[in-house]
Amino acid sequence: MEEVLRYRPAFYPSGNKANASAEAAGLHFEAGEPLSIIIGGPNRDPSRYSDPDRFDITRDPTIWSFTFSMGPHFCLGQALARAELQETAAVIARHTRDLELAAEPHWLPRVMVNHVDQCPIRYRYEP
Ligand code: HEM
Repeated sequence: MEEVLRYRPAFYPSGNKANASAEAAGLHFEAGEPLSIIIGGPNRDPSRYSDPDRFDITRDPTIWSFTFSMGPHFCLGQALARAELQETAAVIARHTRDLELAAEPHWLPRVMVNHVDQCPIRYRYEP
């Protein structure tokens, strides 16, 4: 599940303001200046993940990605979101057989969020 969160974060940018003037990554920020961290960037950082553009569910799940942000604005709902995703995946694994894509998923061309509006699948239901 952690690899799904890393590879396709739901949101791309986080929106914040610098609370003090500071230098970071060779850039100067004035206090109060709006800034945005592109979450997809650190999630594909090669110094943190080997071969970061490869989807690999065998990665160490204890290395959390930037998907829920970090620091003072770390997502307050991340434990609930992780629990919901784990329960959903467990139900799908328990009750489906021969699960496969019936057609290519259709991604909406959004710059702020990863949004798929159609993902046709085929499976046999296992009670
Ligand atoms: C997959 C689901 C979710 C994702 C990817 C997500 C992602 C994020 C991210 C990236 C931020 C930081 C925004 C920033 O730095 O500007 C954030 C903040 C926050 N999230 Fe989530 N979130 C999810 C689900 C939830 C849920 C289920 C709740 C509540 C039940 C929640 C409540 C919050 C709150 C209250 C904040 C603001 C924290 C603060 O600024 O101190 N989130 N979330």
